[in-house]
Amino acid sequence: MATTTHYWQSLWEETIRQSSNSNRIDGLSNVDRINLHAELVYKNFYSKRNLDDLQRKPEFWVELNRLKRFITKDSSVLDIGAGFGRIAVPLAKEVRRLTAVEPARVYMKLMKDKADREGVGNIEFAEDLWSDFPLRKKYDFVYSTLSLAISDPDTLMKMNDASRGYCALELGASPSSDLDFNQIYSMVKGESFRPPGNYLNIITTLYDNGIYANLETWEVTSEVKYETVEDLVELRKTSLKPYVRVTEEMEEMLHRFYRSKMNSDGTYVFHVKGAACMIWWKV
Ligand SMILES: C[S@@+](CC[C@H](N)C(=O)[O-])C[C@H]1O[C@@H](n2cnc3c(N)ncnc32)[C@H](O)[C@@H]1O
Repeated sequence: MATTTHYWQSLWEETIRQSSNSNRIDGLSNVDRINLHAELVYKNFYSKRNLDDLQRKPEFWVELNRLKRFITKDSSVLDIGAGFGRIAVPLAKEVRRLTAVEPARVYMKLMKDKADREGVGNIEFAEDLWSDFPLRKKYDFVYSTLSLAISDPDTLMKMNDASRGYCALELGASPSSDLDFNQIYSMVKGESFRPPGNYLNIITTLYDNGIYANLETWEVTSEVKYETVEDLVELRKTSLKPYVRVTEEMEEMLHRFYRSKMNSDGTYVFHVKGAACMIWWKV
């Protein structure tokens, strides 16, 4: 049952138009930008870790159980923005079939390797942006965790269209959950970063479309460790490049900023403290 006025949806669309993302200067396509970022995250972060360790943490099982509420052994499932298969591979073991949509080549390869290693053969892989993914059927459960794939009303409603059962979205709920990017952005640009919306835009846009979603929030505290300040500066430079031409002076400023906060052994630990949420609904 769709309502006639879409006040909240228009508000989200306007927020996107006014956001810093609307003034990107890098001239890259969305898929090229995602790939560039993924390659750097891989080089400076993932390649230096055993990613399977993430699955041994108790928080991981809490996260997986939250999603397991919506599946049965017979479910068909769609993961949007599956990354290296952190959730997709273990969840595929619990269902009949899982489709994993992931546009970044480097993550897709990691996910396929992980599925092979764990003997999981029921995943269909789609190297696509969610907006480009050809929707040919409906799935019992459609979810997306910590991904930017659901970034506007169209991609959100496509998610709803893809499901004949349940949908679930896991994302940050507090402004601080995006590490220290906002601080760096205002340091180099001299203005605040204007985000293209938040979890409230998702809930209210669903409301405008006659969907009254459930919301669960929880506190998040964790530490993200970088082996060297250089690794982190390179990552942040890539995140800044869509918005600003990063000059040598800016790079030096980033080095100074992170060096002033690094540990005595040269590592840098970012303390994440904020809230995350799951938005879910029955289609
Ligand atoms: C932080 S990772 C999360 C990965 C995984 N869902 C997890 O929870 O571990 C975000 C993922 O979303 C993917 N992504 C970003 N934009 C996307 C889009 N428009 N369509 C599909 N996936 C996208 C990225 O390539 C990346 O793999």
